[in-house]
Amino acid sequence: MNEKKLVGEKAAEFVKDGMIVGLGTGSTVYYTILKLGERVKKGLSIKGVPTSIQTEKLARECGIPLTNFREIEQIDLDIDGADEVSSELDLIKGGGGALLREKIIAKAAKQCIIVADSSKMVKQLGEFRLPVEVTPFGCEMTEKHIRTLGFLTELRLSTDEPFVTDNGNYIFDCSYTKGYDPKKIEQELNMIPGVVENGLFVGMADLVITVDHDKKIMLK
Ligand code: 5RP
Repeated sequence: MNEKKLVGEKAAEFVKDGMIVGLGTGSTVYYTILKLGERVKKGLSIKGVPTSIQTEKLARECGIPLTNFREIEQIDLDIDGADEVSSELDLIKGGGGALLREKIIAKAAKQCIIVADSSKMVKQLGEFRLPVEVTPFGCEMTEKHIRTLGFLTELRLSTDEPFVTDNGNYIFDCSYTKGYDPKKIEQELNMIPGVVENGLFVGMADLVITVDHDKKIMLK
């Protein structure tokens, strides 16, 4: 079985009757959502809060009832993927462009489970370029400010046009020449006017579901 399916489906076992569940975005949590859809058909009663329009569509197709922040105070469990997971369980997210809604939902959740195949597990964050969501207005100036923090920046494109997030914003994919302090950089980036959010998730993951060399499930 492929690793994404293995860890994605495992995460669905943590969902209990009555829970409000944050539904992440990406090709790993895709398997969690399919599994939850199967369980809902068998009688599991949950409500999902999707982290993207793509996930909302998938959840509806799977028959998972949805809710939103007008109707709820808190999320019981958030399940999401990641692009990198450090040994401290800090994350880089946003490869799929859903980082803002993902962070809002992770912050609102009592527990956050990350599903990650073995390729995502790293000692130190930084190999994967950090996605930074910015407002289109003034993005050229915002980019200059991001560069003064030591990043090389590249505007994310989708068929030659700027990629536009579900929130109507752009993304700069940012690389750093040396290792950085995730907590410090997360805060410094968000101090720049025009930066809406960045893909560093520091201290937010409670549990990471991954696989070891023998393709056995490993909980961290
Ligand atoms: C989307 C994300 C995803 O969780 C991340 O990109 C991992 O995706 P995948 O499971 O497809 O590898 O942060 O914004």
